[in-house]
Amino acid sequence: MKNNYSNIFAFNKKSLSKTIKYLNNGNIAGLPTETVYGLGGNAYSRSSVKKIFELKGRPKSNPLIIHYYNLGKALKDVEINKNFLKLYKKFCPGPITFILKKRINSKINPLASAKLKTVAVRFPKHKIIRTILKKINFPLAMPSANKSSNVSPVCALDVVDEFKKKVKLVIDGGKSRIGIESTVIDLTNFPQILRPGIIDSNAIKKILKSKLLKSSKSKRIRSPGMMRKHYSPGIPVLINQTKHDKKSAFIYLGKKYKNNKNFYSLSEKSNLREAASNLYRLLRAIKMKGYRKIQITRIPNKGSGIAINDRIKRASKN
Ligand code: TXA
Ligand code: MG
Repeated sequence: MKNNYSNIFAFNKKSLSKTIKYLNNGNIAGLPTETVYGLGGNAYSRSSVKKIFELKGRPKSNPLIIHYYNLGKALKDVEINKNFLKLYKKFCPGPITFILKKRINSKINPLASAKLKTVAVRFPKHKIIRTILKKINFPLAMPSANKSSNVSPVCALDVVDEFKKKVKLVIDGGKSRIGIESTVIDLTNFPQILRPGIIDSNAIKKILKSKLLKSSKSKRIRSPGMMRKHYSPGIPVLINQTKHDKKSAFIYLGKKYKNNKNFYSLSEKSNLREAASNLYRLLRAIKMKGYRKIQITRIPNKGSGIAINDRIKRASKN
């Protein structure tokens, strides 16, 4: 489909070869994944990784996720273990990121992993990103394609909304199906979820046949990116709200207020997975409509609701 943005490209043979060339030359592209759109560049190249940090305005202490086509390619860079293999077999390619030990001779640029001895690896499922990953000889360092602390993008236009013409190539892969970032799990030690996602702790426990370390039990912040303020739409967000405050946008579950102005449902069926997939799209749309404040109802803290609560809690910090 034609669009009015010279930096958004439909996916076809021509744009694929353009993207491959672009990445091979060390440039950064906006690329679709099933979770959210990413800002991808050569993870082995210092200058590419540097460009990603600069574009996002991301603190150097916050490491990037490294995206691979498959396990074979990742083995050169990370040490794997039994827990990883179990989860990889069940969920990959898919919306889950593993923290693993970095190999001594790994080619991942130290800047990408914030000089840590560990690496975050992910095997995304979206057909477009897999086609690209298969055709290049390096993994992609790829954070969500938003300015640091903003809401993650879930369509090509969102990426342009964040970076305007500063990102010259954005591939349109449609709306991100999952709509919220991957689950991040640390497997270097006793397994611990660092960032909840739609693959929730129960699903993971079932596969590992073991408990997970509770995040509250570890005092140290193991994921540097889990800083409190994050995912902010740029206007105040209030959570656990019960009473609508006139002019603000009110986000809720169900269809009770379907015909009421200023009310927005995350899921008419009150389905938490659907709600998670609509969250960022809705936050961005509400901001664009010119509201000054967003109120959000209490979201049940189970399944995908845990990931929603994690994000809106951070979005509500000022
Ligand atoms: O769904 C996703 O994961 C998306 C798409 C584009 O793949 N990517 C994404 O990347 O959300 P980003 O950079 O926005 O979030 C990466 C998270 C951060 O919280 C970061 O701190 C954490 O992963 N992380 C990266 N490397 C780590 C490491 N070695 N140890 C602990 N946490 C790490
Ligand atoms: Mg992010």
